[in-house]
Amino acid sequence: MISVRGVSKSFGSQVVLRRLSLEVEEGKTTTIVGPSGAGKSVLLKLIMGILQPDEGEIDVCGYSVTDASSEADRNAIRENLGVLFQSAALFDSLTVYENVAFPLTECKMLHRDEAHERVIELLESLSLVKYARKLPQEISIGIRKRVGLARALAVEPKVLLFDEPNTGLDPLVGQEVYDLIAESQQSQGFTGVVISHELPEVFQVSDRVVMLLRGNIVMEGTPEDFQNTDNPEVVQFLHGRVDGPIRIQ
Ligand SMILES: Nc1ncnc2c1ncn2[C@@H]1O[C@H](COP(=O)(O)OP(=O)(O)OP(=O)(O)O)[C@@H](O)[C@H]1O
Ligand SMILES: [Mg+2]
Repeated sequence: MISVRGVSKSFGSQVVLRRLSLEVEEGKTTTIVGPSGAGKSVLLKLIMGILQPDEGEIDVCGYSVTDASSEADRNAIRENLGVLFQSAALFDSLTVYENVAFPLTECKMLHRDEAHERVIELLESLSLVKYARKLPQEISIGIRKRVGLARALAVEPKVLLFDEPNTGLDPLVGQEVYDLIAESQQSQGFTGVVISHELPEVFQVSDRVVMLLRGNIVMEGTPEDFQNTDNPEVVQFLHGRVDGPIRIQ
């Protein structure tokens, strides 16, 4: 579903990713973990086509992101890829309803009446109907995340990317976001990629876990594999210890 092959990315003399290869399986949720600065967000931006790799190739749903030369290819990828950014990134001047309707009327070019049914369905399924007329600044960050998820789900993307869906949330709201990811994954069947350094909490929504370190993958496996490993770097990271082979930058 997502295929990353031999991808490298540097900024000036700083090598962030070094010939990294990764296959993300269809219909599953893969979580990318790793310490701050490991290159998680850079990898996500490469998958989205916001950044270009120095070498290597990336395909999403069979379309090449790295040499998506035609506008048609880029549009096909955009239609298949939804993103939930860390801040939820809602449009401040639009209401909750308008935020969720936006991708339907502006990207899918649906008429407002056609979009209405889908918007109501999404608002209902995420318990957002009572916030429909509110502006983003009038609702809490937890509700904003829910609206962001509704907006990302509106176009029924085949792949949904989440960059640190829980950062800055209190534990209860954080748990709610994980529940929402799991529920929407079940009902919509998208392929999920979740970036997080929240361990082990993020394991509950993960089928596969990939840990990045020094520009490459140090371990890939199921959450159980991670909990049972004796790889010292993984153990140190998993338990948040300062002492160990990973140097804190
Ligand atoms: N556009 C850019 N220009 C220059 N350097 C960049 C750019 N984007 C990222 N970097 C550098 O690449 C490295 C990896 O950044 P990245 O944002 O991917 O880290 P991360 O793993 O997402 O960390 P965090 O957990 O803190 O979000 C960092 O050292 C960062 O400074
Ligand atoms: Mg990041």
